[in-house]
Amino acid sequence: MNSLIIANWKMNLNLNDTIQICDHLVEKTFDKTLLIAASTPYLALLKHKFPRLVFAAQDVSIKQELGAFTGEVSASQLHSIGINYAIIGHSERRTNFTETDSVVRQKATNCINKGITPIICIGESAELRKERNYKNFLIDQLHFSIPKTEKQIIIAYEPLWSIGTNITPTTFEIKEIADLIKNEIANSLLAKSILLVYGGSVNSENSRKILKFGQVDGLLVGGASLITTELIKILNS
Ligand code: PGA
Repeated sequence: MNSLIIANWKMNLNLNDTIQICDHLVEKTFDKTLLIAASTPYLALLKHKFPRLVFAAQDVSIKQELGAFTGEVSASQLHSIGINYAIIGHSERRTNFTETDSVVRQKATNCINKGITPIICIGESAELRKERNYKNFLIDQLHFSIPKTEKQIIIAYEPLWSIGTNITPTTFEIKEIADLIKNEIANSLLAKSILLVYGGSVNSENSRKILKFGQVDGLLVGGASLITTELIKILNS
């Protein structure tokens, strides 16, 4: 399978800039699979305007059914506009919006129930890394955040100390966590069909090495994915 590159544009772009980047991307072919996590209000328009590109949501509501939940966007609503992927439990949501593992698991379950593949983020803080306690923390995050399902799930390992910092773990450290996750999954009832991606300060300089030696199926790219030339380099590296 081609490596998966997930561009996480967060809340960074207005509609014109979003369309401009998509205009560039749609003309190119890549040897990797691109998934663009754009802002929710643009998704229906982008799907319509760029049928060749694949879009993801950056979050879904914890509420399972349609109803009186002002401001929320449900997995079923996203699915009804043709969205098949959603990032769930990004550390920025866990930190800024106090999303716990059980919130993340419920949101991921809502996705799965409505035909959306969740991209579930886990990752340890710098303190946990320093205290050498990170493996137990990650195992707990895995077990409490990930629904027990046989449907496809994408797990994104994103150490908090690497997001937006220009600091990346060594490929040895990434592989260590990739092995840890694969072992945990092999020994549990977790999804049978798992893809594993790495995220945190990925750029065109380090992407190839991480994909090659980190033993991951893809990359979740934030800052570098906002620069079209960088993103294209990553997609062609
Ligand atoms: P970054 O962000 O690539 O800018 O570090 C990654 C992410 O937050 O998903």
